[in-house]
Amino acid sequence: MCMRKVLFYFAILISPMIQAQDSPQLGQKVSQKLVEKWNSNIFPNGEGLPIGKGTAVYGKKVYQQYCQSCHGTDGTGASADELAGAQHDLTDNPPDKTIGTYWPYATTLFDFTRRAMPLDKPNSLNTSQLYAVTAYLLYLNNIIGENEIMTEKTLPQVKMPNRDGFINIYKK
Ligand code: HEC
Repeated sequence: MCMRKVLFYFAILISPMIQAQDSPQLGQKVSQKLVEKWNSNIFPNGEGLPIGKGTAVYGKKVYQQYCQSCHGTDGTGASADELAGAQHDLTDNPPDKTIGTYWPYATTLFDFTRRAMPLDKPNSLNTSQLYAVTAYLLYLNNIIGENEIMTEKTLPQVKMPNRDGFINIYKK
């Protein structure tokens, strides 16, 4: 076979490989398990909460390991927002927007933490860690006690200080 022919066949052989490399390489097919992991919503009344439990005592350890680097000691803020320790109310100037002064539902805190935090590894904490770190953040904001057990039943019962501070635009 002459050299030209060899090169020709070689080009045919490797062209699919070159094409594959040229494609954008956008990830891989999503598994059913991954879809289920992300396809979860927790409603203010607690609907959708997974069965589990945790207290602030263990939550402090979870916080120190996974949250403190960005949110600071005891949630007082660092490169990321403060989560506790408000010195001012929302109506003060400047206001202090923390979980204690702002968030209307404790269940949303669980949902948000599960889907979005830690920022560099979202949806990575297990259910016990999530209940515990939620309890710790509520404890830091003086909303629950250090040993109060947060579960799928007790978390929706927590009354957040700013629960009635929102205007319901749908209410006639
Ligand atoms: C790598 C840095 C980083 C880590 C680690 C991290 N966070 Fe965050 N967090 C952020 C940033 C940045 C924001 C603001 C992002 C936004 O508003 O979308 C934020 C926002 C939040 C908020 C919303 C604050 C508010 O009132 O708007 C909560 C609650 C929260 N984080 C909880 C946690 C918890 C709990 C952990 C640990 C499990 C954690 N974060 C770990 C960076 C981080």
